[in-house]
Amino acid sequence: MCYNSPPGKDVLTLLKSTFVLMQIHSSCSLKPYNTFGIDLPAAQLVRLMDEEELAPIGDLAQGTAPRVLGGGSNILLTHELKDLIVKNELKGINLLEENEQHTWLEVKAGEVWHDFVMYAIAQNLGGIENLALIPGCVGAAPIQNIGAYGVEVRQTIDEVIAWHWEEQRYLSFKNEDCRFGYRDSIFKREMKDRLIITSVVFRLDKVHCLNTSYGAVQQQLEIMGVSEASVKSVAEAVMAIRRSKLPDPKTLGNAGSFFKNPTITRQQFDSLCAHHPDLPSYPASEGQVKIPAGWLIENCGWKGYREGAVGVHEKQALVLVNYGGAKGADLYQLSEKILRSVLEKFDITLEREVNIW
Ligand code: EPU
Repeated sequence: MCYNSPPGKDVLTLLKSTFVLMQIHSSCSLKPYNTFGIDLPAAQLVRLMDEEELAPIGDLAQGTAPRVLGGGSNILLTHELKDLIVKNELKGINLLEENEQHTWLEVKAGEVWHDFVMYAIAQNLGGIENLALIPGCVGAAPIQNIGAYGVEVRQTIDEVIAWHWEEQRYLSFKNEDCRFGYRDSIFKREMKDRLIITSVVFRLDKVHCLNTSYGAVQQQLEIMGVSEASVKSVAEAVMAIRRSKLPDPKTLGNAGSFFKNPTITRQQFDSLCAHHPDLPSYPASEGQVKIPAGWLIENCGWKGYREGAVGVHEKQALVLVNYGGAKGADLYQLSEKILRSVLEKFDITLEREVNIW
């Protein structure tokens, strides 16, 4: 195999037996590869552009789990990384099957999520329109079961195909094998650090079943003067809402929701409501209530807070931001302070949604 790379001083070239061409960068900055815009180096970064390159990754990793990067929109870098970083750039969308109701598409993991949503809408295929504008790549979608405005990606996933880098073979996970939960799946648990997701098979709807249950989506459709919603208009409504309250990582470094919305017991919810009658809630499993972490954080006084280069977004308290030049460790410290104050005031332990690297 032949490991090759373009010229440049952050690049290493290796030669081996079979003929596979790979780009390997050494001591390169990860700043362009994470939406927080944290500037830390990686010892080695491989750009995975062809599935033929999967086998050599096992050799390169030298027994230590490689870290897989998609859009870098759900990570916080806190220290220099010694492990091999694999930037998943596998591309392609293939039509697998269709009938009168559905179309099955196999989408390679390195496709940009929002571009895929736009592709589906252009084909008039429904199911993922509420997930428009979520940053990141297709391969990351099943890992944290991305969700927004009443829809989770698990509702459209038929199968996830992944490469087990140690066993050197492909594994297939049907929907039920993925053990999806709220921002959760087998890929964050039992299969963590073992797999490189290569593609996701989606079952999309030709006969649409729109979800406009979320109040903000309904209101936005009214503002837009839409009387009969379509996959396109729902996506446009979602995009308008997201643009109005979530910062664009291209202009302000962030990783979306930094914490998950916590689930508490109905009993704890009732006693909190006695002091905070305006506490919002979402339905959860029996005897449980999910509450918005953004409300808890705002009510601890953090919304719009700024400390040097780090802060809490002024329109959505669940989003931590890098005003420019922030260190990952400073963002982590801020998240610690927020966790402590929510615990003290509400006796609720928040869990980070963002992966700490
Ligand atoms: N709220 C506040 N203050 C805030 C933010 C929120 O009081 O600063 C309260 C409001 O009552 C609001 C409620 O929280 O009505 C819900 O807020 P929002 O609709 O913004 O949703 P969220 O629960 O904060 C979740 C997801 C988002 C997703 C939205 C819309 C999580 C961790 N986050 O946020 O996902 O876009 O719902 O469905 O579940 C992401 O995961 O990165 C993400 C942005």
